Amino acid sequence: MILITGGAGYVGSHCVKELLSRGRDVVVFDSLDQGVREAVLSEDFVEGDLLRVEDLQRAFDRYEIDSVMHFAALASVGDSMRNPQRYYENNVIGTLNLLNAMREHGVKRLIFSSSAAVYGDPDLVPIPEDHRKLPKNPYGRTKWMMEQAMADYSQAYGVRYIALRYFNAAGCDPEGQLGENHDPEEHLIPIVLDVALGRRDEITIFGTDYDTPDGTCIRDYVHVNDLAVAHVLALDALGAGAESTAYNLGIGNGYSVREVIESCRRVTGIDIAVGEGERRPGDPAVLVADPTRAMRELRWQPHFTDLDEIVETAWRQRRSTVH
Ligand code: UFG
Repeated sequence: MILITGGAGYVGSHCVKELLSRGRDVVVFDSLDQGVREAVLSEDFVEGDLLRVEDLQRAFDRYEIDSVMHFAALASVGDSMRNPQRYYENNVIGTLNLLNAMREHGVKRLIFSSSAAVYGDPDLVPIPEDHRKLPKNPYGRTKWMMEQAMADYSQAYGVRYIALRYFNAAGCDPEGQLGENHDPEEHLIPIVLDVALGRRDEITIFGTDYDTPDGTCIRDYVHVNDLAVAHVLALDALGAGAESTAYNLGIGNGYSVREVIESCRRVTGIDIAVGEGERRPGDPAVLVADPTRAMRELRWQPHFTDLDEIVETAWRQRRSTVH
């Protein structure tokens, strides 16, 4: 059985759906602090917090767990700059508790949600996995610290892991069953779509003076379903004996903040109001993946390579939440 921490969250719930569609046995572990109960698609569910060791104990005692996918974490760059304590507690202490519980119970396979935020401002774009790691914000630091801790646990205790460094997770379940809900919501596409829905007055672009063609930040948006498939491939690779490693997950193409807003205008047919503001502290100018290793070694092939198609899936789901 696969333990899915954060299986009620955005990427975790999409991954649970993918695993269930392939007939895998999963149990979701989630505190429901960020996650939502309705997004738990598995029958097996433990409501628990990684910061309470006894909750983890309960999950490991109750189920025959042979591998773990660890999504449970706080994941907003801006929020991490304002509330670093929450990020270090949840993302670092929570992950260490999980690693220790795995060790105690002899569970030796782990897929870890890492992030492009581990790189900081890249020297080289597209970014390869062996690029220098110099995260610019507490969120990225927590992810890089945990990659290092996993490497140490891996060599000392034989836990094998694959860290998947997502670039910008985007879009939703094309069937509309699952969505993206963060609290606070700080991610670009959901905010822009909320402007289209009249839930916000405008989208503020954080910084228009970056050294990029239109002055706004460039990101590599990768569909959450493609991320989910990569997790399954990574777990199967560990099952087949793969060594511990990390992979970039992005499509290898960058879009600026203005291009994302344009895409949202095209998809929604609504003229979205835009304001221009200061740079957001902690934001690198450009983050674009070199995903060739994941494509070659995991045989991962992202299905969604067009930004409008990605936005379309997010829009379909988000507009359905208007009552
Ligand atoms: N942005 C705005 N206005 C907004 C919100 C965002 O201009 O209201 C800009 C940001 O400044 C950034 C871009 O839109 O340039 C995307 O911002 P997101 O907050 O949607 O995502 P990030 O680029 O901050 O994503 C980063 C890392 C990911 C990581 C993610 C965690 O690149 O690897 O944080 O949430 F997973």
